[in-house]
Amino acid sequence: MSTTTASPLGGKVVAVPGGTGNVGEGIVRAFLKAGATVVVPSRSQGRLDNIVKLIGPELAANLRTVAAGYATFEEADRLAAGIVAEFGHVDHVTASVGGWWAGKALWQTTEDDWRKIFVDVATSHMALARSFVPRLPEDGSYTTIAGFSSQKPYPGAGIVSMQGAAQLMMREVLTAELGGQPRVNDLVLGPVINRSRPGGDPTWLTADQVGEAAVGVARTPSIAGEHVQLATVADLQRERARMAS
Ligand SMILES: NC(=O)c1ccc[n+]([C@@H]2O[C@H](COP(=O)([O-])OP(=O)(O)OC[C@H]3O[C@@H](n4cnc5c(N)ncnc54)[C@H](OP(=O)(O)O)[C@@H]3O)[C@@H](O)[C@H]2O)c1
Repeated sequence: MSTTTASPLGGKVVAVPGGTGNVGEGIVRAFLKAGATVVVPSRSQGRLDNIVKLIGPELAANLRTVAAGYATFEEADRLAAGIVAEFGHVDHVTASVGGWWAGKALWQTTEDDWRKIFVDVATSHMALARSFVPRLPEDGSYTTIAGFSSQKPYPGAGIVSMQGAAQLMMREVLTAELGGQPRVNDLVLGPVINRSRPGGDPTWLTADQVGEAAVGVARTPSIAGEHVQLATVADLQRERARMAS
């Protein structure tokens, strides 16, 4: 299918694991606005119903929801294979999986905290990458969403920082192993204004602006193997200059 300026990702299929989340909502909306068919999986039918409502009837025409998790290699394989079986292809993935957690020093962290915040989220990212990356076309892209704490220790949120650091290194390894096709990147975000935190410093990005950046990275062939630093709106303005418009 041909692409147009009005619909630059027309005909493309984009999977957004984490699309039900605060940041994921903006990513889903941006890919839909760019004309893609967007597939959002979730462990919760209630969260899927909520994202459809938040997106609204007009844009949601090209939104597909899948009540399925990706907590294990087997679940992620089933998800990726199911999307390819239904749509014939999957072109881009933006994984916005995992959330914030804080309040305990490392030595206070319980085994349950560790499992939920480090093991479960790291396993999901790994499961998604190993299932989707081999199914992407050479001109496709895989992007993970990370936070500032992945590169800088954040006292009281050590296990979030450790999981984020593992995620960034997973992306670096993928880039080294793939040699550039498909492209694999990550967005390293500062705090994000979103539906759960509608107020905030005006220099912070909104979830919709994160979505704009995710679409820009997916569409720009020269952005490959990068930690795209997006702490503030000024960073996005700088990135816009090199992203496909
Ligand atoms: N919010 C911010 O201000 C901010 C700032 C910087 C970076 N980030 C990054 O943005 C990403 C998403 O954050 P968010 O604020 O949107 O989080 P969120 O609202 O809590 O959403 C988390 C998403 O991850 C999915 N998920 C799947 N497996 C999960 C697991 N084992 N544990 C937790 N979530 C799981 C959830 O899907 P289900 O529907 O299945 O629950 C949900 O869609 C994270 O990588 C985070 O580090 C966020």
